[in-house]
Amino acid sequence: MHKILDPGPALLAEVVELVSYPEGQPLEESSLRRAAEGYQGILSQVMDPIGEEVLSLPGLKIVSNVAVGFDNIDLEAATRHGVMVTNTPGVLTDTTADFAFALLMAAGRRVAEGDRELRRGEFHGWGIDTLLGQDLHGATLGLIGVGRIGGAVARRAKGFDMQILYTDAVSLPPEVEQELGARRVELPELLREADFVSLHVPLTDETRHLISTEELGQMKRTAVLVNTSRGPVVDEAALAAALAEGQIFAAGLDVFEREPEVHPALLGLENVVLTPHIASGSVRTRSEMCAIAARNLIAGLRGERPPNLLNQEVLDK
Ligand code: GLV
Repeated sequence: MHKILDPGPALLAEVVELVSYPEGQPLEESSLRRAAEGYQGILSQVMDPIGEEVLSLPGLKIVSNVAVGFDNIDLEAATRHGVMVTNTPGVLTDTTADFAFALLMAAGRRVAEGDRELRRGEFHGWGIDTLLGQDLHGATLGLIGVGRIGGAVARRAKGFDMQILYTDAVSLPPEVEQELGARRVELPELLREADFVSLHVPLTDETRHLISTEELGQMKRTAVLVNTSRGPVVDEAALAAALAEGQIFAAGLDVFEREPEVHPALLGLENVVLTPHIASGSVRTRSEMCAIAARNLIAGLRGERPPNLLNQEVLDK
């Protein structure tokens, strides 16, 4: 395992022998395999690529991911090898939704740009047209995905008097649509109509590069795009080009296509707020995620059903 937060280590220490990943090693699958050889459980994090090579380790019973997303793990291969996989849903929903809102506001109202300008000594007093941004209140928010986190963003948006459009494979129950004032539309309509677009889909073959040149071209020139889901959902090169050309107003990104790398073209732009994958990063939430992941791991090692098991088929076999 990597370092995790209290109370994770104490919970684990009561039950298992703990071994840390080798420090400073590149997180390649081959080094993960070497580190995990002979152990029955792995406590993984989003930067750990867990595929066939690791999952075929003899004796491996469970991979407990300290995250809600699990695109770093080949779930199909895990199931085939009889390895349980768990995640930490629920606990990070509101914290992540708070952060999506922070990025919506920071990008729309140019918070980071203003901070940089001021630190460069470029604040010379109140200016009638200094860093004018886009209003969130009363604007239309397009949510791509309204699962747990997208739904929590929608509830916050209601407090800002936003109109809510969404896309998802299934509609929200009518009473929830009514409560949120949310309307399900097709993606092109959402992109055309929304002033703010926020992504809340898992990374799958269908969602990879869901937002690329064509989709960015459908958005308003005043629109703001925020991604707190997974980097590859957005084509970073296409986004950098759209931002540079003023095709959309701004973006806020917490996740990137090839973390920890960030597309160099993005780094040179003022109209994008960039944060290092910290949307679930509050003191309380990260600690709860570690506790949940530890409990999942312990249950799996004891041969019990872990609370957040993603591949029940392993136990059904
Ligand atoms: C973090 O990105 C998570 O999926 O929890």
